[in-house]
Amino acid sequence: MMKIALLYGTETGNSEILCDDMKDKLEADYECSIVSLGDATPSELDPKAFHIFVTSTYGNGDLPAGAATFYDTLTDEKPDLAGIRFAIFGLGDMVFDYTFAQGSEKLMTALKQCNATMVGERGIYDASSSDMPEDIGLPWLDGIMPHIMLEDA
Ligand SMILES: Cc1cc2nc3c(=O)[nH]c(=O)nc-3n(C[C@H](O)[C@H](O)[C@H](O)COP(=O)(O)O)c2cc1C
Repeated sequence: MMKIALLYGTETGNSEILCDDMKDKLEADYECSIVSLGDATPSELDPKAFHIFVTSTYGNGDLPAGAATFYDTLTDEKPDLAGIRFAIFGLGDMVFDYTFAQGSEKLMTALKQCNATMVGERGIYDASSSDMPEDIGLPWLDGIMPHIMLEDA
């Protein structure tokens, strides 16, 4: 069974709950794990797993505080993540205008600069909309899964 590692960055839990919802959807077909970016290290990402990053945005378009060390390790140490495949989904709030969902954008850019391979488009959820994160996140997941299969075959 192929492994899927769900990694979240959160301040108030929404990104973690969305990872739980994604896991519920995936776990019949994949071996899923969920870990906080606060407990993850770039060099310990598993090349055999497909990675799904889910993170919100805080401060001035930054990652949540708990994910800062993971991000700083990517940008400061530039570990070689060739062979690591990932997709990324960001939570944000349009009220914040020009910093909207920039935490996930920064993480995406840093992962790519470390040679990780991105699959699909970055998904984005706007907390000022009337949708729940899973209303946007689960259809996004449906959209990327076929690409994971194709590249895995
Ligand atoms: C103090 C504060 C600052 C925030 N700053 C931003 C921001 O700069 N850009 C953005 O898109 N969203 C911002 N948000 C919105 C959160 O990213 C959004 O509510 C998200 O759904 C929270 O997810 P979480 O519970 O996983 O942390 C901010 C929210 C708070 C409370």
